[in-house]
Amino acid sequence: MSVMRTKSVERSIADTEEPEFQLRKSLAALDLTIFGVGVVIGAGIFTLTGRAAHEVAGPAIVVSFVVAAIACALAAMCYAEFASTVPVSGSAYTFSYASLGELFAWIIGWDLILEMFLGASVVAQGWSAYLGVLLQQLGAPLPAAIGYGGTVDLMAILLVLVLGVLMTLGIRESMRVNLVLVAVKLFIVLFVIVAGIMFINPANYSPFVPDAAPREVATGLTQPLLQFLSGAEPMAFGVGGIFAGAALVFFAYIGFDVVATTAEETKNPQRDMPIGIIASLAICTLLYCAVAFVVTGMVSYDQLDPAAALANAFAYHGQAWMATIISAGAVAGLTTVVLTLLIGATRIIFAMSRDHLLPAGLAKVHPTRRTPWLISIIVTVIVALVAGLTPVGVLEEMVNIGTLSAFVLVSIGVVVLRRTRPDLKRGFRVPWSPVLPILSALVCMYLMLNLTVETWLRFLVWLVIGFVIYFAYSHRNSRLGKDADTYFNPAEPKVVGRDS
Ligand code: ALA
Repeated sequence: MSVMRTKSVERSIADTEEPEFQLRKSLAALDLTIFGVGVVIGAGIFTLTGRAAHEVAGPAIVVSFVVAAIACALAAMCYAEFASTVPVSGSAYTFSYASLGELFAWIIGWDLILEMFLGASVVAQGWSAYLGVLLQQLGAPLPAAIGYGGTVDLMAILLVLVLGVLMTLGIRESMRVNLVLVAVKLFIVLFVIVAGIMFINPANYSPFVPDAAPREVATGLTQPLLQFLSGAEPMAFGVGGIFAGAALVFFAYIGFDVVATTAEETKNPQRDMPIGIIASLAICTLLYCAVAFVVTGMVSYDQLDPAAALANAFAYHGQAWMATIISAGAVAGLTTVVLTLLIGATRIIFAMSRDHLLPAGLAKVHPTRRTPWLISIIVTVIVALVAGLTPVGVLEEMVNIGTLSAFVLVSIGVVVLRRTRPDLKRGFRVPWSPVLPILSALVCMYLMLNLTVETWLRFLVWLVIGFVIYFAYSHRNSRLGKDADTYFNPAEPKVVGRDS
């Protein structure tokens, strides 16, 4: 049963106070909201809106965005409750260590590594794609071999390296750059909405929910697991299409959970974490629905460009310069997503190393910069290599499955921690618990079933590797395991003895 041992919330907090592992506490609610918007608005809205409207939902893609937002809002409330109760670096990983036990915590940490490493790599590739489009529009195209889709995507590698250096220099510096880029991105999104309104043709909204039609999708490994299990014929459009669209545009919302990874660097996490998480999700939902509404009004859904719909909707109306501005905004916008995911990835590994589930030496913080510099360098190099060398379009769904599995466990964890530690001060409480957290877990599982068989198989391989590392290394070296006598009983939380 030692794999089920839990780390008490008090102990998690005490660990953050050790000087050698201490991060700088400098963030407030506004920083967190900007951080959240910075990581959420990215490749999703710039590319998936067009694809989802064109292929599965039609103008009703607006409704898909609302459906996906509801699923995310349920999970966001669970994250907010946890982050305001356990304000420690590591997000869902730390939460599940406090509620579900070490093995679950390990799995979650392992899933989050998947989400953030691959998320950063995929969005870096998307960034490189937009850079290519922009340079082309400016009349200075890149040589094909070194850009998006080339043998080695040098541009994506360069981006990750530059951002990695920035992140290693310090969280304050990263936030400052983030602020500028988030402002540019918000401007572009508002620009699409405001400028686009002029080109709306109401006829494009009819039919708003196109009639259901059989969908040409691949079979075998590339069909959704749900379809594989049920044998149902896949349909596009109609009411079903709205849900299929929601599963697709879920990617656009990924990232609000990354806000929780910076809990330990927040001045007043009890108050600011729930505000940061929920405000960033709310802002993004509003913007996404508005963009989706405008773009499907500008161009009939069957003529929308599935790749770069936002820019091309303006090109369609003969506004080449507007399309160029939007491409430039996408380049700036995707930068912040990569930066934030890089930061998130280092913070997860930081938390896991501090617990000795990964080598503890990794978690040492730089004496003046107060960043986990060693981890930052490792993360940067790996993400750069994956972004530069993996063929495009392979890893996106892996990001979704890693995220959704974390959402499921966090939702269950809220219910468990309410039972095991009702006494803890919670800055934010999910209303109607356990109904809403359980609903949240079910909705996320449903979305997971909509991912392809291939993704599930890759995910299982990832999990098996995780289990091997856990039992070969982490379980034996776990700091909690070594100190079990001192710390194990969560019913006696005030024990604060130090390591042997
Ligand atoms: N939500 C992020 C994006 O759309 C991952 O790029």
